Amino acid sequence: MSRPWVLISGASSGFGEATARLLADQGWNLLLTSRREERLSSLAEACQALGAEVHVGAWDVRDRAATNEGVARLMEHAGISASSHGEPLRALVNNAGLAVGKGPFDEGLDEDWDRMLDTNVKGLLFLARACVSFMREGSRMVNTGSIAGKQVYPGGNVYCASKHAVDALSQAMRIDLVDRGIGVSQVCPGAAETEFSNVRFKGDDQAADAVYQGFDPLVAQDIAEAIEFILSRPPHVCINDLVIMPTAQASAHHLHRRPTP
Ligand SMILES: NC(=O)c1ccc[n+]([C@@H]2O[C@H](COP(=O)([O-])OP(=O)(O)OC[C@H]3O[C@@H](n4cnc5c(N)ncnc54)[C@H](OP(=O)(O)O)[C@@H]3O)[C@@H](O)[C@H]2O)c1
Repeated sequence: MSRPWVLISGASSGFGEATARLLADQGWNLLLTSRREERLSSLAEACQALGAEVHVGAWDVRDRAATNEGVARLMEHAGISASSHGEPLRALVNNAGLAVGKGPFDEGLDEDWDRMLDTNVKGLLFLARACVSFMREGSRMVNTGSIAGKQVYPGGNVYCASKHAVDALSQAMRIDLVDRGIGVSQVCPGAAETEFSNVRFKGDDQAADAVYQGFDPLVAQDIAEAIEFILSRPPHVCINDLVIMPTAQASAHHLHRRPTP
């Protein structure tokens, strides 16, 4: 049997990169996207060494036309057509996203709000819509939500709103796609050490490191394994929603840090 195709967004780092490596190892072929092309190319080489056929395309998911064109190009490379013949797109891991800034909403910056809402909400929608016509019965979509889509926390206002939107859209997409046999899942991580906080604090690595001090955060591999679990369920099983936290984090508000010696 030929290897199934998965498209992963946000593949240049963190959850997306770890998921690409794991799925390549588990027998998938990969279509990888993010904005940083060099990172995608070196990841592609590593995944090819694991036996996967890999194609990469760099674009910004906030750009609707670029997303439509990028998806069409990747499908062409993979030989996937929108017809009911041949290999479909078996899975979409709709994962690109970010938080930018943290603080009271009335001190928020327009640019930060635009980046979060345009990437996390509209970018996720643009990519899902562009991919659906290449999916068929048995295909699956996995959206990366967050604990921030289940609860809100101080200073998280717009990021939390964007992830609450992902929570709502994941439920809505599941309803819209149920009669086409396409399962929609959401993975909602708590605190995970990736480049997420470096992006949130705009390159202030000290502030980013402080987020993860005094407890064991999730790592990207934890989320990759959850996504692989979702994608490897039998066709009649859809994992709707997975909330995954570090053991030291009981909620968005309750984090147990070890006392500093
Ligand atoms: N880490 C956490 O604690 C945590 C917890 C819950 C949820 N999440 C969510 O998990 C997802 C992945 O985050 P991560 O933790 O793996 O962080 P990360 O290491 O910063 O990865 C984010 C990925 O998204 C891509 N991306 C961001 N903006 C983009 C845009 N406009 N167009 C295309 N790609 C874009 C980045 O690639 P380029 O920069 O190359 O474009 C990168 O590959 C995000 O949706 C995030 O909100 C993270």
